[in-house]
Amino acid sequence: VSFTILECKEFFMLRPKIITGNWKMYKTIEQTADFIKAIAPLVADNPFEIFLAVPFTAIQTAAQAAEGTKLVIGAQNMNDATEGAFTGEIAANMLKDAGAEFVLLGHSERRRYFHEDDALINLKIKRALSIDLRPVLCVGETLAEREDDKTQEAVKRQITQGLADLSARELKNLILAYEPVWAIGSGLYATPEEAEEMHQFCRQVLSELFDPDFASTIPIQYGGSVNALNAKVLMEQADVDGLLVGGASLSLESFSHIIHNSESTPDEGIL
Ligand code: PGA
Repeated sequence: VSFTILECKEFFMLRPKIITGNWKMYKTIEQTADFIKAIAPLVADNPFEIFLAVPFTAIQTAAQAAEGTKLVIGAQNMNDATEGAFTGEIAANMLKDAGAEFVLLGHSERRRYFHEDDALINLKIKRALSIDLRPVLCVGETLAEREDDKTQEAVKRQITQGLADLSARELKNLILAYEPVWAIGSGLYATPEEAEEMHQFCRQVLSELFDPDFASTIPIQYGGSVNALNAKVLMEQADVDGLLVGGASLSLESFSHIIHNSESTPDEGIL
């Protein structure tokens, strides 16, 4: 058996594994503080990076509560402008100021309910990168696109346009989240094989747009009805580098079960 240099590199490249809770429009400041205090000791010895995308109002409290723990706090959206007369909007530097270290961009609920398109998401990614706020680009096909055999086309478009005019160097902190829209909040989830196939596809698109070295370092999370039962088998897939968890991240019990159940993935121990 012979391996190419690239295959060897990929084998030894341990991408960070990140499990993110996306709280959407749930939890008050007090509930946030209580949750973080309770979960921090439960995940202290865990091998994963644990991110929480909390509501804007709770970012500061969350960031303070998370200090000295392994939890990383972020936001779920932001405006693409630096500042201005945009009533009700929030700027990237305000998120950072409050203690956010990352921001979800292009979540399907933003695309669907707030009509965000790939061009706008691209501007937001550029803005986040400009102040070192780590972008998590969310992509995924709708049920209609899957049924029309347009899954790859849709995801390729979202990645290509979302990352347009950016270099691999600028995008070194990027996280990609593959979230099939039909799986979000529906209780339906991609089989591990379907997830792996799409994660490999996303990585291939990144290789073509940038280069294989870059593509092999970018963590790709799976999202869509992740729960304590399916987390482990999804995480066992070679190109699934983490999970983006919505509903099941709201309860301390289910989120900590997801994190614990995801342990002992096959590449544990390499390096
Ligand atoms: P879900 O949401 O886990 O509730 O399906 C995932 C997401 O929207 O990121």
